[in-house]
Amino acid sequence: MYTQTHARDPIGVFDSGVGGLTVLKELRRALPHEDFVYFGDTARVPYGEKSKEAIVRYTQEAIAFLLQHRVKAIVIACHTASALGLESVITTTPVPLFGVVEPGVAALISEAPSGRVAVLGTASAIQSDVHRTQILARCPAFSVTTIACPLFVPIVEEGLAEHPIAVSAAELYLGGIRDVDAILLACTHYPILRQTIQMAVGPNVALIEPAKAVAAEVALSLCDSRCLNSQAGEGTIFYYASDDIEKFRRLAFKFLDRPIEHIKKAPLAGRPTTKR
Ligand code: DGL
Repeated sequence: MYTQTHARDPIGVFDSGVGGLTVLKELRRALPHEDFVYFGDTARVPYGEKSKEAIVRYTQEAIAFLLQHRVKAIVIACHTASALGLESVITTTPVPLFGVVEPGVAALISEAPSGRVAVLGTASAIQSDVHRTQILARCPAFSVTTIACPLFVPIVEEGLAEHPIAVSAAELYLGGIRDVDAILLACTHYPILRQTIQMAVGPNVALIEPAKAVAAEVALSLCDSRCLNSQAGEGTIFYYASDDIEKFRRLAFKFLDRPIEHIKKAPLAGRPTTKR
């Protein structure tokens, strides 16, 4: 799979905006010596309310953009794009491609001894029913509740994760959940709401964040293929956003708790772009 790539090439990470930084954080922790190219499609966020047709097109354009940067692997950090767009690029992407749905589903199943689970995500991701389909394909006897939580993304981006408004939204969406073993946080932003969600569903429910499992999968794959970057120091992260880079900087700080250095505006989708 990695035959035409080089260990020193960066790993591409794609998200609809800043949310994918929760996944990048875990990738960075698992793979500190790797360089990354992160593309956040901030001009078109939120994907969570878009049609499948739009999300497929955006995903194809994002993958093409990252490939121009000679990435050796690509992670689709966005749950909505993983659910609706990944399939459309899986056979045409010439480097290993990782999504967040499968590892999330696997982690969820492993934490559900009595087979009762819930999945939280954006409206489009939940409507696609991809998570339920994958869970039932592996475990047909499972009981799966899926809930779209459209207010969670703007609440996080406004910095209101601990505000009473977040608590009210969590109670509104999750108040009806009963007797589940585990809940999959199937959206990049939801780990930031972890405490609020845990309060709403009670302490005995396991909350599953796929990012760690995704990072472990990518690390294993690079290791197996002898494609790990062997540089001595910490790798560099190059950020691209398709809209205002100052806004990206400000929001990114909320996700990473540290400033980002190398950021450029990505050319609008479909337009020719230059290499790094
Ligand atoms: N990144 C998206 C996801 O994980 C959330 C934000 C959006 O709706 O674009 O589904």
